[in-house]
Amino acid sequence: MVNIVGLSCGRKNGNNELLLKQALMAAEEAGASCELVCLRDLKIEQCTGCESCMRGLISGGDGKCVVRGDDYDWLMDQVTRARGLIVAAPIYDLIPCGRLITLLNRALGAGRERREHGKSHPASAAAIAVGGSDWIDLAEPLMQLTLTNLCKGAVVVDRLIAGGNTAPSMVLLDDGLLERAARLGRRVAAAAKETDRAEYQGPKGICPVCRCNLIEPLEGTRAVCAFCHTPGELSIENGRLKFVCSPEDVRHQRFGPLGEQEHQDDIRAAHQKAAQGRELIRERLKPFLAYGAALQPESVRGEHNA
Ligand SMILES: Cc1cc2nc3c(=O)[nH]c(=O)nc-3n(C[C@H](O)[C@H](O)[C@H](O)COP(=O)(O)O)c2cc1C
Repeated sequence: MVNIVGLSCGRKNGNNELLLKQALMAAEEAGASCELVCLRDLKIEQCTGCESCMRGLISGGDGKCVVRGDDYDWLMDQVTRARGLIVAAPIYDLIPCGRLITLLNRALGAGRERREHGKSHPASAAAIAVGGSDWIDLAEPLMQLTLTNLCKGAVVVDRLIAGGNTAPSMVLLDDGLLERAARLGRRVAAAAKETDRAEYQGPKGICPVCRCNLIEPLEGTRAVCAFCHTPGELSIENGRLKFVCSPEDVRHQRFGPLGEQEHQDDIRAAHQKAAQGRELIRERLKPFLAYGAALQPESVRGEHNA
């Protein structure tokens, strides 16, 4: 029996959690076993920005986050063991809520072993994000990023991004939305059984690679997807805007093997530049270090003095 983890990032029995539960109940009916994990129950520390995970990855190390003493590893172990993942998060200020963004930042330090396990045992994944209005445009690509960073190699099969649900539990008024969440759950359960045959079945945005709708103009009719960074050609066919990417364009998308390699090479080159300029940095840093101490509230100053 395939195991699916449902990660709830919003309020207890909030709109997102209700749709997530609906998806999990449908997945169970389709034969999966499901676990609900609530991010609010877990202690997840902020990323400190030390970048030891990325430096480890590019230099052959384990690439694991060095922050200890919280529930991050426990959560990642649940996700790594599962064959399916559904993440549900409320939309705050156009993007998924901060609690999930904190976890996303930490997921950079998932570690080489989990990354390789994910690629050799791809799980199926889907996202739910509910907002109170139509301010929801940036949630879709960020939810996609969350899925593929929490669950490396995951085949994203669906995304349900819904606006207009501002009051607690009001998704229960919308039969269509409840059925849509159930369908998402069934898709994850079916895909988790046969991930090698699984494919994306959710809404189709203009980008043929990541299916989002965020296209940035370049020169002339060239453009690039702001999310997956695949370049391509814009045209109008039968009155509809089209974005066509050649196989060579697709090779350069940021989440493919070449894109990942190019990204790591860029970071390696930036570290080399910094190492070569170390003396100059040390010299130029002096006035910045001498520049005034930050204003802090009494509570923080008290902590330092205690
Ligand atoms: C701080 C904050 C910011 C919000 N920003 C947005 C927003 O940008 N777009 C939107 O559609 N809804 C926004 N909302 C509304 C919530 O997304 C909406 O109420 C949602 O149903 C909450 O989900 P929950 O019931 O699962 O917690 C915001 C709510 C809060 C608390």
